[in-house]
Amino acid sequence: MLDDELGSSELGTLEFWEARYDSEIQNFKNHGDPGEAWFGEDIVDRIIKWISENVDKNVSIADLGCGNGHVLIELAQLGYTKLIGLDYSEKAICLANTIKDNQSLNIKYEVNDILLGLNGVYNVIHDKGTYDAISLSENSKEFREKYRINVHSALEASGYFIITSCNWTEEELKEHFKEGFELHCTIPTPEFKFGGKVGSVVSICVFKKK
Ligand SMILES: C[S@@+](CC[C@H](N)C(=O)[O-])C[C@H]1O[C@@H](n2cnc3c(N)ncnc32)[C@H](O)[C@@H]1O
Repeated sequence: MLDDELGSSELGTLEFWEARYDSEIQNFKNHGDPGEAWFGEDIVDRIIKWISENVDKNVSIADLGCGNGHVLIELAQLGYTKLIGLDYSEKAICLANTIKDNQSLNIKYEVNDILLGLNGVYNVIHDKGTYDAISLSENSKEFREKYRINVHSALEASGYFIITSCNWTEEELKEHFKEGFELHCTIPTPEFKFGGKVGSVVSICVFKKK
């Protein structure tokens, strides 16, 4: 059933992310380790390739739940200039700023709870793993709806919303975002076969604002 919720987990809480980024700040300071690229480098490469082939360098791009900022860092290195990372964890923003300052990159970071509304309006909105985390909160159904409404209001007309999820399939994402968005394309991800059925572990959908 498409309406099934995932059940709550600590990944759906701010306390979890604050504690996690606190230890990642220490790791970066002590060992220069910037931390994890959620879902792995191969997935990041696929997203960056799609953006670089389809999105002009001068458009505004917001990364929701940016964590350590690794997607924005790759985009900055390719010449994108209007980049903003938003995360509700102050520690995530502190980590992302520390990493950025080390490399003198032109990226802005702000503490922003997406469920309270986004700071600004953007041509492209990107999310890798953040809708997943929100889907694991106690009020997930209500929060997912708020998320959809807030992303929709913060996207310029015909803007792209690129979402990567390991919790929801392409079909489920299409259903969740059918109001206000239309599927533009999917970015292929590695597939597996089990019991005669082919599936993907991670889904990447690119929606356009209707
Ligand atoms: C699974 S991590 C993904 C981090 C990053 N996007 C990546 O791909 O590595 C989820 C991120 O979403 C952030 N997050 C969760 N709920 C949020 C909310 N309501 N507003 C803003 N950020 C949120 C967390 O702090 C965390 O950085």
